[in-house]
Amino acid sequence: MSHKLLKGKKGIIFGALDSKSIAWKVAEEAVANGAKIILTNAPIALRMGSINELATKCNSKVIAADATSVSDLENLFLTAMQDFDGKIDFVLHSIGMSVNVRKKRDYTNLNYDFLIKGLDVSAISFHKMLQVAFQLDAINDFGSVLALTYIAAQRTFPDYNDMAENKSYLESIARSFGYHYGKHNHVRINTISQSPTMTTAGSGVAGFDGFFEYADKMSPLGNASAEDCAKYCITLFSDYTKLVTMQNLFHDGGFSNTGVSKELIDILGKKK
Ligand SMILES: NC(=O)c1ccc[n+]([C@@H]2O[C@H](COP(=O)([O-])OP(=O)(O)OC[C@H]3O[C@@H](n4cnc5c(N)ncnc54)[C@H](O)[C@@H]3O)[C@@H](O)[C@H]2O)c1
Repeated sequence: MSHKLLKGKKGIIFGALDSKSIAWKVAEEAVANGAKIILTNAPIALRMGSINELATKCNSKVIAADATSVSDLENLFLTAMQDFDGKIDFVLHSIGMSVNVRKKRDYTNLNYDFLIKGLDVSAISFHKMLQVAFQLDAINDFGSVLALTYIAAQRTFPDYNDMAENKSYLESIARSFGYHYGKHNHVRINTISQSPTMTTAGSGVAGFDGFFEYADKMSPLGNASAEDCAKYCITLFSDYTKLVTMQNLFHDGGFSNTGVSKELIDILGKKK
């Protein structure tokens, strides 16, 4: 069911790799709600993923941009403004990658070149895209920018590795840039802290299935799906949330405020 919450709005969506990607669901939901969108991903992801299928479905253009490259981002925002014949209303940053996680390096044995690369891709890229948009004056007043994050920014999840620091940095950028962009032209910036979700990036974390099950059993409403995350993103892109900015918003079925659940106590109790 669509409420056309984004009727007349134009947005850029980063990070749709395949149909499991959270960004994929956001793209579908944005278009169903009346938005026009441009899809973007790193050149290698455009070759390996199935973004063209999504582009056809959403009647949208695909523009390659490595989110760590300022010149790629400048080209993306300038082309988008030309294509849309005006400024942009919303942007989704749905990008994450840790080379240390990929190469299975333990947190106590990190490779620092890998760490810097992962930080650039997962977090500094958010600052880069915001700075490019800010300097090009690419976003309309009360436009909305969202990035996706995970609760490992606040609490320790051992296998999340150096992605925990990347997410802390990402969330801090939302607050700091949110201040400046809010003052400048009322652009709002938030992060959504999403439940574990079965995607390519998600399943890359060691022991992800256990992680997923645990969170599901801890959350009174169960894990939030990618489809539900997309719906939440639409509300935050819409005019119904115009004064929400600089927040880290949990979309996790109640996980973040639950100490322990009855289901887990029952399971652990039976082991004795
Ligand atoms: N899956 C989960 O459990 C989960 C939970 C909370 C938050 N998140 C976050 O959601 C976001 C989306 O991840 P997902 O789970 O949909 O997985 P995904 O693998 O589908 O998406 C990650 C995307 O990042 C893109 N990317 C990587 N390097 C890039 C670069 N240099 N330039 C541009 N794009 C680049 C990939 O091509 C891919 O499209 C990430 O920030 C992730 O950390 C995921």
